Amino acid sequence: MKIKKAVIPVAGLGTRFLPATKTVPKELLPIVDIPAIQYVAQEAVDSGIAEVIFVTGRGKDSIEDHFDEIPELEQVLEERGQTEMVESLRRIAEMIEVVSVRQKRPLGLGHAVLCARDLVGNEPFAVLLSDDLIDSPSPCIRQLLDIFDEKGESVIALRRVLEHEVHRYGIVQGRQLNSRLYEVENMVEKPRPGETPSRLAIIGRYILRPEIFSLLEKVTPGRGGEIQLTDGISELARQKKVYGYEFEGEHYDIGDKLGFVKATVAYALKRAELERPVREYLRAVISKR
Ligand code: G1P
Repeated sequence: MKIKKAVIPVAGLGTRFLPATKTVPKELLPIVDIPAIQYVAQEAVDSGIAEVIFVTGRGKDSIEDHFDEIPELEQVLEERGQTEMVESLRRIAEMIEVVSVRQKRPLGLGHAVLCARDLVGNEPFAVLLSDDLIDSPSPCIRQLLDIFDEKGESVIALRRVLEHEVHRYGIVQGRQLNSRLYEVENMVEKPRPGETPSRLAIIGRYILRPEIFSLLEKVTPGRGGEIQLTDGISELARQKKVYGYEFEGEHYDIGDKLGFVKATVAYALKRAELERPVREYLRAVISKR
C-alpha cells in the first residue's frame, strides 16, 4: 500500500529556544537560510509523499504561510530581476499540499499524532519531527518506506547514541535481524541513567499503521505527564510487528542548542558559495584559542 500522507507535529512550545521562540515558531528558525520545517517537508517530498498534515497550535500560523504563494513579493523580486529567487519561492509554494489540524492543549507527541486521526484515515502514514534533521543520500523516511514496502508493518528510525544522551530519547530494546534492522520488543521514553535497555534511540521518523490511533487513545500520561507516542508504539509492538531501522545518514538534533549549531555549520559547508569561507573562518577561530 502506498503511503501518501505525512504528519508533522508543530504545536510544541519550543521553550528550549527562548527567547528566539517567543514570537517565532521554532520550526521556522533557519539553518543557514532555510527554515527547519522546509528541510523536513523536502524530505517527505523527496520520498514520494506530498500530502502533509501539520498538527499546529497557537502562534504557529506562519508555518503554513511559509508554504503559500506571495504574489506581491514575487512581483517586487521580478521587477528587480531576481528571477531565481522568484522560482525558488514558487517551488516552496508548490512542494506540498498542506492541511492542518489544531492540537488545542500541549498534551504530548502521542496526543498530537492522535489529533491527525481523521485527516489520516484508515491507512498507514509517515510521521516526521522537525527537531531532527537528517542529511543522507537517500532520504531517511524513504529508507523506512522501503522496509515498510517489504514487511507491511510499522517502522521507526533508530540511531545509536552515547550513554549520556539516552535520557533525551525514546530507547528501543529489540532483536537484531540484520546489520541495520531490528524487531522492536520494548521501548522506554527518556530512560533515567541506569534504566536504559540499550543505546538505540528513536529518531523522529516513523511509518505507522493506523492501528496506532486506537492504542494512543488508551495511552495514559507517561514521561513528563504527557501522552507519549513511544508508549503507543510500544503497545503496538505487543500486538503486531514493529521494526526499527538504523538509517544511513548524518543526524542533527536541532531541538538542542549544540545540535542546532552543528547543523548550521554542516549545512553551510554543503553550500558551494559558503564552503571555503566557512572552512577558513573555522580554522582561524580555532587557531586563535
Ligand atoms: C520525541 C520522542 C522521542 C524521540 C525524539 C526524537 O521526543 O518522544 O521518543 O526519541 O522525539 O527526536 P522529544 O524530542 O519531542 O522530547
